[in-house]
Amino acid sequence: MGVVIINFKAYKEGFGKRALELAKIAEDVASRCDEYIGIAVSFLDLPVIAREVNIDVYAQHVDAVGFGSHTGRINAEMIAEYGAKGSLINHSERRLKLADIEYNVAKLRELGLTSVVCTNNVPTTAAAAALNPDFVAVEPPELIGSGIPVSKAEPEVVENSVKAAKNVNREVRVLCGAGITTHEDYVKALELGAEGVLLASGVVKAKDQKRALEELVGLS
Ligand code: G3P
Repeated sequence: MGVVIINFKAYKEGFGKRALELAKIAEDVASRCDEYIGIAVSFLDLPVIAREVNIDVYAQHVDAVGFGSHTGRINAEMIAEYGAKGSLINHSERRLKLADIEYNVAKLRELGLTSVVCTNNVPTTAAAAALNPDFVAVEPPELIGSGIPVSKAEPEVVENSVKAAKNVNREVRVLCGAGITTHEDYVKALELGAEGVLLASGVVKAKDQKRALEELVGLS
């Protein structure tokens, strides 16, 4: 069983009413396949979606602060209270300082939540693995949203990221992402040693989201 995490980003097709619809599609597909399917949604949608669907719901980011005098911040404790399973950390579109990544990984663990630290290449994957998150997800930025799958365009990045991460920390689970769209892209990622994929546009921006996700996990 592989891991598939769908990042809704700030896409219109993955926000508000449409986010709930897409979350229900993901829940339905998850119930009919062997893959683990999780979704990473907007902060605004997280409380409703976490209540309405029976799959794991992640935040796309958390601020590295506790409760207190921090205007406009959303911290790990807040997403925990609203039923999140965990959070992406350091996504390419939401980079953090090293100290903040470390804080978030430790805080999520303390709260019993799952951390998915995003990285951009092999050395940063090894560095992230040293912080002992649950997952690292390597995503070459230039392939994000391109429709060109990392597993085919840069297989060595995936393979070497898995090796580098496991060398540092045998427990960490490695995902890859960027351009992953088809079942073939997904299977190739698994063959390269990744435990799954983190993806967005291939499903969220698809004309038929349900069909796209079914195809990705090999149901059609
Ligand atoms: O978080 C997943 C993401 O950055 C990859 O995006 O659209 O290339 O699947 P995409």
